[in-house]
Amino acid sequence: MIVAIDGPAAAGKGTLARRIAKELNFAYLDTGLLYRATGMKVLHLGGDPEDAVIAEQAARSIDPETFNDPALRTDAAASAASKVSAIPAVRSALLDFQKSFAATPGGSYQGAVLDGRDIGTVVCPNAPAKLFITASMEVRAERRFKELQERGVESIYARVLQDMKERDERDSSRSAAPLTAADDALVLDTSDMTADDVFAKALSYIAEKRD
Ligand code: DC
Repeated sequence: MIVAIDGPAAAGKGTLARRIAKELNFAYLDTGLLYRATGMKVLHLGGDPEDAVIAEQAARSIDPETFNDPALRTDAAASAASKVSAIPAVRSALLDFQKSFAATPGGSYQGAVLDGRDIGTVVCPNAPAKLFITASMEVRAERRFKELQERGVESIYARVLQDMKERDERDSSRSAAPLTAADDALVLDTSDMTADDVFAKALSYIAEKRD
């Protein structure tokens, strides 16, 4: 069983995916980390994240062992990730890893949950359960701002909002696998929903699809 979760930045995909994975004993892959690791690798090499040659090399040499590096959670990583992710050669270099994770999650897992931007459309188009989690730009910027404050990261709301607009624009307008809901996805606008509401809706939808 594969659960595909897509949506824009800070819509609550990660929180939801983690909770689903825990509840159902599924393996979880945050696919944004692959793009973040690629973007950071390019920056470490002193390259430009929009340079297709360096970015593809970086994508081919990322190491899943480094996925819990806190540096991948920074805005610098997010911005570099958004740039490398527009390069088709980067996307195809990262595709096999994601597909094989979904097909063989390993261990005693009963299935896999992947979250990202193109899981339901490109990585796992045959996934039986697809969720598209979204929220208004302002709500998402507010959530990200709060999260940064809680982590003790100094930030300015207007700047967070601006970064989010730029990233949304780049992720949605690129020609390679743009951010879009699969035709058969359940779309949840979480602007006025609590995390518990979203979790409950998602679980009942998955249960329906599992039968
Ligand atoms: O989900 P995130 O914020 O960690 O993603 C970082 C960037 O990576 C995001 O701006 C777009 C890109 N990305 C992507 O293009 N496809 C995915 N499946 C996941 C992330």
